[in-house]
Amino acid sequence: MIALGADHGGYEIKEAIKGHLIKAGFEVKDFGTDSSESVDYPIYAEKVAESVANKECSTGIICCGTGIGVSMVANKVNGIRAAVVTNDFCAEMTRRHNDANVLCMGGRVVDADTAVHLADIFLNTPFDGGRHMNRVFMMNDIEEKQKNKK
Ligand code: RB5
Repeated sequence: MIALGADHGGYEIKEAIKGHLIKAGFEVKDFGTDSSESVDYPIYAEKVAESVANKECSTGIICCGTGIGVSMVANKVNGIRAAVVTNDFCAEMTRRHNDANVLCMGGRVVDADTAVHLADIFLNTPFDGGRHMNRVFMMNDIEEKQKNKK
């Protein structure tokens, strides 16, 4: 199950990705928004990230104008590794090396065809594991340390 979300800046590319994924046989859960009317991206980014963190969905894709705001929000949710992606290389490498579980893209940065293409790369690239596993564990340790400060 793929979680999708967007604000008005990412609405169009989110819709394109949604249509493509459904056609390709994926199950999707769309957390909105449902139009180009202005909304606040933290609301949608948190819902998608939470659904990945609680394992309701395996992967999240969140879109705003740049992809940056939604990535900042998603990365505040425990267990989320969200990456802003604008090209093929980063879409592949953030899966292979960072085991990213949330893909973030900007509707004012990439067009719909590019967004669909990047989503395909992201969803079809496995984590390399090996030495990168330890680095992901190190990220988790930092998250734990920060939690314990509160
Ligand atoms: C909304 O205008 C815009 O700020 C938002 O889509 C996003 O780009 C924020 O990072």
